[in-house]
Amino acid sequence: MQNYFQTLLEQAKQEIGEVEEISSTQLEALRVKYLGKKGALSQGLAQMGKLAAEARKQVGAVANQVKAEVEALLTSAMERAEELALEASLRVPKVDISLPGRLRPQGHCHPVSQTMDDIVDIFIGMGFEVADGPEVELDWYNFEALNFLENHPARDMQDSFYVHPEGFAEDARPMVLRTHTSPVQVRTMQAQPPPLRAIMPGRVYRRDFDITHTPMFHQVEGLFVDANVSMADLKGTLNAFLRAFFGQEVKTRFRASYFPFTEPSAEVDISCVICKGAGCRVCKMSGWLEILGAGMVHPNVLLASGYNPQEVTGFAFGMGVERTAMLRYGIGDLRSLFENDIRFLARF
Ligand code: DAH
Repeated sequence: MQNYFQTLLEQAKQEIGEVEEISSTQLEALRVKYLGKKGALSQGLAQMGKLAAEARKQVGAVANQVKAEVEALLTSAMERAEELALEASLRVPKVDISLPGRLRPQGHCHPVSQTMDDIVDIFIGMGFEVADGPEVELDWYNFEALNFLENHPARDMQDSFYVHPEGFAEDARPMVLRTHTSPVQVRTMQAQPPPLRAIMPGRVYRRDFDITHTPMFHQVEGLFVDANVSMADLKGTLNAFLRAFFGQEVKTRFRASYFPFTEPSAEVDISCVICKGAGCRVCKMSGWLEILGAGMVHPNVLLASGYNPQEVTGFAFGMGVERTAMLRYGIGDLRSLFENDIRFLARF
């Protein structure tokens, strides 16, 4: 009986020692084999009933001794196994520094900003200065000073966003989100004496929303005032700008039109950028695209701005930036410029 336990110990020593790069699973299997409920040790102990009392005591002591030794062997082998596993995991690098990095998509200037910057740059090249004014504007600057009569349809609440700031007196002067950049003409003239050459880019607001209108859009306004400025200066300046922007081959035409703040007034067309004048869907078969409003500054506007119409004359013009961007890049729906869909913007 004593031999049984002694052999058991020898065997366990050998087996536990044999497995060189021993894993904790293998060790667990050996623990079950020797020390488990139905393991070799238990089986030996079950036989001990047959022994005489004296022998049982002796063999029992040996059995306990063997059990303790096997346990100790397993524990230290288990510790070793865990150490080995840790070392192995540390040997395998967690970060593969040779993998190519994940590229962040690169942003760029929005097509509306690009177009606006290009327009402004061309005029700066012709000696214009950049001016700006507030987007929340007094009705006086937006309409009155620009010679809009009291009942002009553009003043209708249907077209303009009137604002009544909280805490303002009931009889405070009415304000609007500016419906065009033209009020900056008046502010710029008020701020400095003639001669004056200024370009005024900015946001404007109207109650409109369809494929060619958004409630906020951008305009660039231009103003040139000096002694003896004529319609010929207007034509020369705008032709030079349109060729610089759309290419030397572009044709232009000036059509008589009406704006309250200019007299005479004109609308300026360019030959269609798509069909080069032959006629297509974009130009509605006319061969021409409207691109600008312009005219000679109305004497009433000069007066309202503190200039003397006997001494100076001027020309002014205004254009929509989104419309210009759409023609330049062939964009069909104006609203897509404001959806901030990166797949759309990445095309430019
Ligand atoms: N303010 C006009 C608009 O929003 C555009 C315009 C037309 C501006 C003629 C001008 C001009 O300076 O002379 O439709």
